Amino acid sequence: MSAEPLVNENPEAMVSIEHLWKKFGPETAVADFNLDIAPGEFVTLLGPSGCGKTTTLRCVAGLERPEEGEIRIGSTTVVAPAKDIYLFPEHRNIGMVFQSYAVWPHMTVFDNVAYGLRVRRASSEEIKTRTTRALELVGLDHLADRFATKLSGGQRQRVALARAIVYEPEVILFDEPLSNLDAKLREQMRDEIVRLQKEVGITSIFVTHDQSEALVMSDRVVVMDKAVIQQIGDPQDIYANPVNSFVANFIGVTALLEGKLVNKEGENCEVEVPMDAGQEPLRIRAVGGEGAQVGNDVFLSLRPEDVSLHLSKPEGTDHGNLLEGSVIDTIYLGSFLEGRVQVGPHEIGIQIDHFENLAPGQTVYLTFQADHALCLAE
Ligand SMILES: Nc1ncnc2c1ncn2[C@@H]1O[C@H](COP(=O)(O)OP(=O)(O)OP(=O)(O)O)[C@@H](O)[C@H]1O
Ligand SMILES: [Mg+2]
Repeated sequence: MSAEPLVNENPEAMVSIEHLWKKFGPETAVADFNLDIAPGEFVTLLGPSGCGKTTTLRCVAGLERPEEGEIRIGSTTVVAPAKDIYLFPEHRNIGMVFQSYAVWPHMTVFDNVAYGLRVRRASSEEIKTRTTRALELVGLDHLADRFATKLSGGQRQRVALARAIVYEPEVILFDEPLSNLDAKLREQMRDEIVRLQKEVGITSIFVTHDQSEALVMSDRVVVMDKAVIQQIGDPQDIYANPVNSFVANFIGVTALLEGKLVNKEGENCEVEVPMDAGQEPLRIRAVGGEGAQVGNDVFLSLRPEDVSLHLSKPEGTDHGNLLEGSVIDTIYLGSFLEGRVQVGPHEIGIQIDHFENLAPGQTVYLTFQADHALCLAE
């Protein structure tokens, strides 16, 4: 049922996904997914297991057929069920790198990378030039004649990368390509992919459930949960301004306190947070509160690096919020300390960059400014 490509009405986007729906039987894997990706942009789909990342990517690749929606790559509509359009993967100009290395063991590094060009019947001169260039880009030119079985995990993943870029696709799709690598190699490959992506300027969609990977690598992050996009933004924005408690919790470490909104003027909020039986509730000054009204249940999101720690009760009131708690535990991570403090029934994370000798059970005081406590409606 493949049809002639149609001309894209929105030529600025390299990839355009509109109202995409994909179901497996009764289960919705992707619900009304909308995203435009600019040429050369690196976009990451981030979310917990089963949230629909791979399915979205497979719809772009043509490996999965959505029930509804439209996907365009460059000026070509590659799938649009309502218009009876579906292009096979080999007719979409995309490269793919997956979690499993998927290199052919009986071929040399060169032949593994050249394979796609041979299938496309490129001339032998073109095959030589392009394959050599792709191997140079991933730093494997010196191993061109080695058999793929005699490569390390990182080298195999580089072969997979070279194979994906060798025919200069418009878009490259990555599905957790680093998750089989050990921590150190993972970081190294992560940096290499970013360098390569910027050097070649190729539009990229990268799937991961690792938030630090997403924050470090991406121009923009799409946070998904339960088949639905929760937030789209650049890494700083997603981290500093999560739209809901799911995103706040998923991106970076955060303490989430449940409470009631008791005062709201503009974006200045006051939230009452219940304590243990017999204790006065906390009153915390915060910002945000978009979509919430006085009397509503809300969440307070508080990042460890925004909380200051004091060994004795600080004087004055210019510290914003003041809480008294007791140390649960701490760990030293070289140049800084991470720990948890119990405040009534709540656990609050701290991160400080100076040495403090803290014993479990010790009374401490936490302060944070109102604009570091984010009030979230849901
Ligand atoms: N071929 C399939 N048949 C039936 N259900 C499927 C199929 N592929 C995916 N699903 C379901 O669709 C949902 C989304 O799956 P998907 O693989 O897209 O998740 P994911 O975000 O990539 O997760 P992970 O991080 O574990 O890879 C899941 O509930 C999954 O069980
Ligand atoms: Mg997946």
